[in-house]
Amino acid sequence: MCHAGSLHSRRGGTYVGGDYSLPTGMKADTHYKKDIICIDCHLTGAKGMGDIQRKASCQDCHIEIEDAHSKSIHKNLECAACHINELRGYQVVVYGPGMVAGKPNPFKKYSLYHGIQSPPIIMKDQKGKWMAVKVFPHSLGNFKPDVKPSEGIMFRWKDGETKDPYYIVGTESIGSNDKHLLWIEIQHVSHPYGKGRTCESCHRKEQVSISKWEYEDDQGAKEPFKGGYRIEAGKDGLKITDMKNYTPILVAEGYKLEDFASWLFFSDRWQMPGDFSIKTENDKYLKYLNLSKNIDKELKALEREIKNKDKKVQKQYKELRAVTLHNEDGAIELIQQFKKNLK
Ligand code: HEC
Ligand code: HEC
Ligand code: HEC
Ligand code: HEC
Repeated sequence: MCHAGSLHSRRGGTYVGGDYSLPTGMKADTHYKKDIICIDCHLTGAKGMGDIQRKASCQDCHIEIEDAHSKSIHKNLECAACHINELRGYQVVVYGPGMVAGKPNPFKKYSLYHGIQSPPIIMKDQKGKWMAVKVFPHSLGNFKPDVKPSEGIMFRWKDGETKDPYYIVGTESIGSNDKHLLWIEIQHVSHPYGKGRTCESCHRKEQVSISKWEYEDDQGAKEPFKGGYRIEAGKDGLKITDMKNYTPILVAEGYKLEDFASWLFFSDRWQMPGDFSIKTENDKYLKYLNLSKNIDKELKALEREIKNKDKKVQKQYKELRAVTLHNEDGAIELIQQFKKNLK
C-alpha cells in the first residue's frame, strides 16, 4: 500500500486510489466502493491478510460474465484489459549523479516524474493472453560495459509467475556521464477496475497512449517542470515519441541536464521491434460494432420497460445486461427471449 514507487500500478494503493495514488486523486476501484476487501479476491496463506498472495480469484461473484466472456470474440483478453482506464506513478526513470543520503552518488534515482498514462497499451503475455500494461522509459548513466539491444520483447519469468516484460534498447554515449543504458520497463497492471473501454480505444490503426507528468524532485532542477510523451504500438513495433518538456527546465547549480533529464538526448531511442497490432478484419469489426450498438439500444429500451417491475425481474435484467455486454453472439436472441417471457 505504501511506498508506491516504480511498481505503483501493481500495488494495493491503486485499489484504494485517492490519497494512496501518485499523483493523488485516482478513482478508486469499483469494488473498493462496494466494501470488497483485498482478500475477497487475493488468496491468503496460513497467516491471513499478512500473507496475501499475488494470485486472485473472482470467487463466485461474476460467474455469468466469466462464462459469457469465455465464449466471446474477446475470450483471449484479461478482464483488466478492458476495465482499467488509466495508470499513475513514475512516467520516466533516470539514474545519474546526485546526492543519496547526503553523499554524492553516481546512481541517484531521478524518478519523481509523477503523472498519468491513459489508456493502457495492451499486449500478449507469455501465454498469449492480452493484458493491460504500463510502458515507461528508463535510463542509467555512468555505466561502463556495452550492452546489445534485446532481440525482442523479454519476460522476466518465462513460465508466467509474473507477467512483466521489458526491452533493453542498448548503451548510448552523449559525451557525459559515461555510457547510458536504456531500457523500456513494462508492467502488468491489475487495479483499479472501472468502466469498460470503448471499442475505438483499442480497434484503431495503432494503439496510442498519452503520458503527462510533472517532475517533482528537489535535486537537478530549481523548480518543478512539466512534460509528456506518446506511446504508439502497432504492427511495426512499439515506440515512445514526442517526448518533451512543456515548461522550461531550470538546471540547479552543480547539476547538468543529462544527470536528471538524459531522456532529452535520447527522446527518439525508446523503440522496440515486435507486432503489437490488434488484428481485426474490417468487415467483421463493423459487423460486431453494429451489433454492440444494437445491444446497447435494446438494453436501454428494456431498462425503461422494466423500471416498475419487481426485484426479481430487475435482477434478471441485470444478469441479462452483464451477459449480453460480454458476448455479442446470440445476445439479441437472449434479449428477445427475455422480452417474450416478460409478457
Ligand atoms: C476485485 C479483485 C481484487 C481486489 C479486491 C484486490 N485485488 Fe489486487 N489484484 C487482483 C488481480 C486479478 C491481480 C493480478 C493477479 C495476477 O497477476 O495473477 C492483482 C494484483 C495485485 C498486486 C500485484 C502483484 C504482482 O506481483 O503482480 C498487488 C500487490 C495487489 N493486487 C494488492 C492488492 C491489495 C493490497 C488489495 C487491497 C487493498 C487488492 N490487491 C485488492 C485483483 C484484486
Ligand atoms: C465479493 C464479490 C466480488 C468479487 C470477489 C469480485 N467482484 Fe467484481 N464486482 C462486484 C460487484 C458487487 C461489482 C459492482 C457492479 C455489479 O453490481 O455487478 C463488481 C464490478 C466489477 C467490474 C465492473 C467495473 C465497472 O466499474 O464497471 C469488473 C470489471 C469486475 N467487477 C471484475 C472483477 C474481477 C476480474 C474479479 C476477480 C479478480 C472480481 N471482479 C471479483 C463483486 C465482486
Ligand atoms: C472487450 C472488453 C471487455 C472485457 C474483456 C470485459 N469487459 Fe466487462 N464490460 C465491458 C463493457 C463495455 C461494459 C459496459 C460498460 C460498463 O458498465 O463498464 C462492461 C461491464 C461490466 C460489468 C458491469 C455490468 C453492469 O451490468 O453494469 C461487470 C461486472 C464486468 N463488466 C465484469 C467483467 C469481468 C468479470 C470480465 C472478465 C471475465 C470482463 N468484464 C471483461 C467490456 C469488457
Ligand atoms: C481493450 C481493448 C479492446 C476493446 C475495448 C475491444 N476490443 Fe475487440 N479485440 C481486442 C483484441 C486484442 C482482439 C484480438 C483477440 C485475440 O487475439 O484473440 C479483439 C478482437 C475483436 C474481434 C475479432 C477479430 C477477428 O477478426 O477475429 C472483433 C470483431 C472485435 N474485437 C470487435 C470489437 C468491438 C465491436 C468492440 C466494442 C464493443 C471491441 N472489439 C472492444 C481488443 C479490444
